[in-house]
Amino acid sequence: MLPRMDSFVIHGGRKLSGSIAVSGAKNSALPILAVSLMTDAPCSFGNVPLLRDIQTQVKILNTLGVETTWQGRTVRARVKDTYNSTAPYELVKQMRAGVCVLGPLLARRGEAVVSMPGGCVIGERPIDLHLRGLEALGAVIELDHGYIKARTPAGGLRGAEIYLGGKFGSSVLATANVLCAAVLAKGATVIECAACEPEVVDLAECLNAMGAKITGAGSPRIRVQGVRRLKGVDWSVIPDRIEAATFLIAGAITNSAITVTGCRGDHLMAVLDVLRQMGIKVERKGTTLTTVPSGRPKACEVVTLPHPAFPTDAQAQMMALMTIAEGTSTITERVFPERFMAAAEMKRMGARISVANGQAVVQGVDKLSGAEVMASDLRASAALVIAGLAAEGETRISRVYHIDRGYERIEERLRKLGARIQRIAGSDAAPATASGTAG
Ligand code: EPZ
Repeated sequence: MLPRMDSFVIHGGRKLSGSIAVSGAKNSALPILAVSLMTDAPCSFGNVPLLRDIQTQVKILNTLGVETTWQGRTVRARVKDTYNSTAPYELVKQMRAGVCVLGPLLARRGEAVVSMPGGCVIGERPIDLHLRGLEALGAVIELDHGYIKARTPAGGLRGAEIYLGGKFGSSVLATANVLCAAVLAKGATVIECAACEPEVVDLAECLNAMGAKITGAGSPRIRVQGVRRLKGVDWSVIPDRIEAATFLIAGAITNSAITVTGCRGDHLMAVLDVLRQMGIKVERKGTTLTTVPSGRPKACEVVTLPHPAFPTDAQAQMMALMTIAEGTSTITERVFPERFMAAAEMKRMGARISVANGQAVVQGVDKLSGAEVMASDLRASAALVIAGLAAEGETRISRVYHIDRGYERIEERLRKLGARIQRIAGSDAAPATASGTAG
């Protein structure tokens, strides 16, 4: 069923208070759910966020013969049959991360037919690194009528030394796909220029719990010793660091004391460092992070890069904070150079932002004013919510189905912190090909 064209109405300019718990990480759960394809044994995945993208991934797995049941935030999964190894366009077009079934399918079944992911509003998103890595393991791949058709040679995949670096450095999902394939390949594999994101580490640790032999995850060089088969697993995914960053920035922009619970501060070092540079105090105790009202933020220069540097997925939210900072900030987007969809909408709220050549220059203003704005992708819409919380007057954000892809019931949880935010149900259905399938 297509999502509705709901919108949010926010009355901003209020302080927030209280605590908010972080959900499980969407970008960890998506590739981890796909490992259920790599064993005949039952798997159980806990702390899975209740998001539309997760539902789409589960539907993709169901079409591939994986039986799934939900119990709260736990997904139980088990391969029931292997007749179909095609992940259809109908589903993959809704969520690019559907491509991360490619490696697990190929590794376990020796063949995979996966729709090529479509376009994306956050920028150019090729899959050459995915294909390069799998071909290095011996896969025979052709692109045919919009589908990636891959099969293993006689004798199966073979371990190899693979350089997985691209124009913008490492790739998270390419690393995930190649890692899964290498786990069941014969012999040893080295993945050089692997992505170091915490979500990649979570995937590797989950695979190791299934009997894989992976070392070096979290570093640019991952080593894998292939194994013949994997057992089932009972795994709980890590907390969502981007959701945590979003809430911390909501606390900072409203000059509020809010506590974000259940998060991993060690996954947020770059974000915490930028907040510190902007004069925003954040107290860290165990798995909680609390913003301390620190007055008007100072301007700052941020460059997004692969982990452990500043995450591109927190860029738009940080830009919202910079709009009311003292002085002129810059954001240089080195992962998705065109990812500045929120800028034009924030300018409608009185922000002063100029974007050119992958960089946004943000001249801080005293205050933002509420306005009608439109969400274009997941993180841009989170940034507009944050701007709306700070803005004077009413902000109306349309197309919030984008935000439902990555944030669970965000308006209800923000209301618990004292925000005045309402969801207005849309009568129309969202466009079938949710452009901005940034996932
Ligand atoms: C993951 O996407 C995340 N999605 C994205 O989060 C995140 O923005 C991105 O990593 C970067 O951190 C999930 O994990 C589901 P990439 P992914 O491949 O793996 C280029 C969100 O908001 N590239 O690491 O698809 C690519 O164009 C989403 O939750 C190639 O050149 O991103 C980009 O410039 C949005 N060739 C850079 O690498 C390839 O084959 C990084 O992209 C693959 C990627």
